[in-house]
Amino acid sequence: VIEYLDRLEGLAPEALCGFFVGWPAPPTPEQHWEILERSFAFVLARDTQTNEVVGFVTALSDGVFSAFIPLLEVRPSHQKRGIGKVLIQQIEQRLVGVYSIDLVCDPELVPYYAALGYQSLAGQGKRFRKENV
Ligand SMILES: CC(C)(COP(=O)(O)OP(=O)(O)OC[C@H]1O[C@@H](n2cnc3c(N)ncnc32)[C@H](O)[C@@H]1OP(=O)(O)O)[C@@H](O)C(=O)NCCC(=O)NCCS
Repeated sequence: VIEYLDRLEGLAPEALCGFFVGWPAPPTPEQHWEILERSFAFVLARDTQTNEVVGFVTALSDGVFSAFIPLLEVRPSHQKRGIGKVLIQQIEQRLVGVYSIDLVCDPELVPYYAALGYQSLAGQGKRFRKENV
């Protein structure tokens, strides 16, 4: 059974392991914790049997006009069970009233987000990568 939470109470950074799969320089669990704390909104998916956090999504927003979803991830062991879809639906509920919700994704995920109502837009971004990446 998966429970969806928007609080960190009762958790510790160690509960945030197993994410950022394949990232060359992933955030530490402590940095991950800080990312959640400093976001406008976040939702965690927790497996109630193991008590592990198995998915999360974050949003940045001015709360009025625009919002951005920087991170969505479901741990490989729990993918393809609808958790990602629920995380997006839940974060959208916390962004009700804004004009736009944007995100950036790899080309292979375009159909995934299209099925959730997102359209392709042109965009540009700057990345401040660590030296060895
Ligand atoms: C992308 C990701 C969040 C999807 O989470 P998930 O919980 O496995 O996805 P869901 O089970 O909610 O999938 C919902 C639907 O999308 C489909 N889907 C899943 N991954 C897909 C993909 N890569 N491309 C197209 N469709 C996809 C599922 O088949 C499902 O369709 P259905 O509702 O018709 O059965 C997850 O695969 C993940 O964490 N990937 C690694 C990190 C990542 O790429 N994050 C996104 C960064 S922008």
